[in-house]
Amino acid sequence: MRLLFAALLAATAPLTTDSGAPVGSNQNSKTAGARGSVLLEDFTLIEKLARFDRERIPERVVHARGVGAYGTFESAADFSALTRAKIFSAKGKRTPMFVRFSTVVHGGNSPETLRDPRGFALKFYTEEGNWDLVGNDLPVFFIRDAIKFPDMVHSLKPSPVTNRQDPNRFFDFFSHVPESTHMITQLYSDLGVPANYRQMDGHGVHAFKFVNAKGVVHYVKFHYLSLQGVKTLTPEEAAKLQAADFQHATKDLYDAIARGDHPSWELTAQIVDSKDLDRFSFDALDPTKIWPEDQVPSVVLGRFTLERTPSNFFEDTEQSAFSPAVQPPGIEPSEDKLLQGRLFAYTDTQRYRVGPNYLQLPVNHPRSPVANNNQAGPMSSARPATDVNYEPSVSGAVAETSAYAYSRTPLSGTTQQARIEKTDDFSQAGAFYRRLDAPARARLVQNLAGDLGQVKNAAVKTRIVGFMLQADEEYGGRLAEAVGVSADAARLAVR
Ligand code: HEM
Repeated sequence: MRLLFAALLAATAPLTTDSGAPVGSNQNSKTAGARGSVLLEDFTLIEKLARFDRERIPERVVHARGVGAYGTFESAADFSALTRAKIFSAKGKRTPMFVRFSTVVHGGNSPETLRDPRGFALKFYTEEGNWDLVGNDLPVFFIRDAIKFPDMVHSLKPSPVTNRQDPNRFFDFFSHVPESTHMITQLYSDLGVPANYRQMDGHGVHAFKFVNAKGVVHYVKFHYLSLQGVKTLTPEEAAKLQAADFQHATKDLYDAIARGDHPSWELTAQIVDSKDLDRFSFDALDPTKIWPEDQVPSVVLGRFTLERTPSNFFEDTEQSAFSPAVQPPGIEPSEDKLLQGRLFAYTDTQRYRVGPNYLQLPVNHPRSPVANNNQAGPMSSARPATDVNYEPSVSGAVAETSAYAYSRTPLSGTTQQARIEKTDDFSQAGAFYRRLDAPARARLVQNLAGDLGQVKNAAVKTRIVGFMLQADEEYGGRLAEAVGVSADAARLAVR
């Protein structure tokens, strides 16, 4: 026993300060005499407290609670006719990736059982730079213009006065936003509380562009379908689980990967020729709409599997930074107005949340070489070894490659600040309701009435019922009854 203890001691590395000096005592501060005071010159103590004081970075303004894992994507075929993105250039091609799942509204240590969309962000380390596909578990979104996002999030977050999330506030907001009807209907269905992150689908939500080497553009919507199947929790199951374990989904992912039960998803795409974009009864770039499968069937692009959890949560998961603007050649944003705002917001928040050199951190750093003249700033570790930090230069150290210029989009018309023409706010919400079986319809109405029933302002309640009536008469009628609103008054309120 004594020998074993001695052997363990021999293997132990000396405890050091951050500057590498061995530490003499990690148990007692240096004091003036037996009683004290504590001496400021005890730098080991000062450094330890100072580092502790700075352990947190600001949490994400949304999607604060999350869990991440590393994995691999394998392409199902050579898709180079559609996109020059190297990740899809050959059948069986493997690309490493990092994935972060999250809840949206509540803070960093909130329960994982709440009714809330789930974030499902993918980072592919491709050979021509990273591709971040920053999606959610639900296929549509509440709003269609980025200018409304801060208002929406303020209404969904806890009240600035009471620090409590309050249906009075978010239904007040949504009662002015008819395009939220589809997302609200999906969110209050069974899909609103996923059982865990493995048994949940994901969706890119927006249309993006696939661009091939000749510059030909197709519009695509991405989906990732769980090969574990989809499982949800009833409110009763969620309440019971939350009482026993408020972090069950994080545990579920770590446990599954540890036992070798590596979760997988099929990555699919719906693809529309750019000249066909206007052939739909709705606006194909409106993120409050799905592209119905019977009109645009999905193609399987490949499959990804999660194989490894990070060795440290903060280093990888907390510092991971995904952005819809991070795309390699062959994948570009569409003109979707919500997506266009996201292209700015993510990298902006990450330069503040993590720091301007966040892309140098291992979890965010591309696996392909980075060569440009962006430089310095806090925490830079890029170690450039040239004095030619400009371009052009006779040195020819770095040069643009014209073949990688962005695709070209034809334009006409004037600038404007206006809603889209084909708003069609309600028909897909109604179609979603009618696809549910009778018990699922009843649960949706009950879930929605549970929150809407708390709303004190009659006009707000009436307008929300009016939206649901426009989606489907049966749906709206049942909701009207459940929250004590006159259906006739609701119909009039949203005319
Ligand atoms: C204009 C609309 C939106 C804005 C301005 C916005 C903004 C943000 C911001 C600032 C963050 C925090 C990022 C960070 O700190 O690293 C975030 C996270 C996130 N957002 Fe959005 N968001 C928008 C819409 C959406 C939509 C439509 C989706 C889904 C398709 C989405 C999915 C996510 C996900 C998954 C994360 C967490 C990423 C991670 O795991 O680190 N967001 N969003």
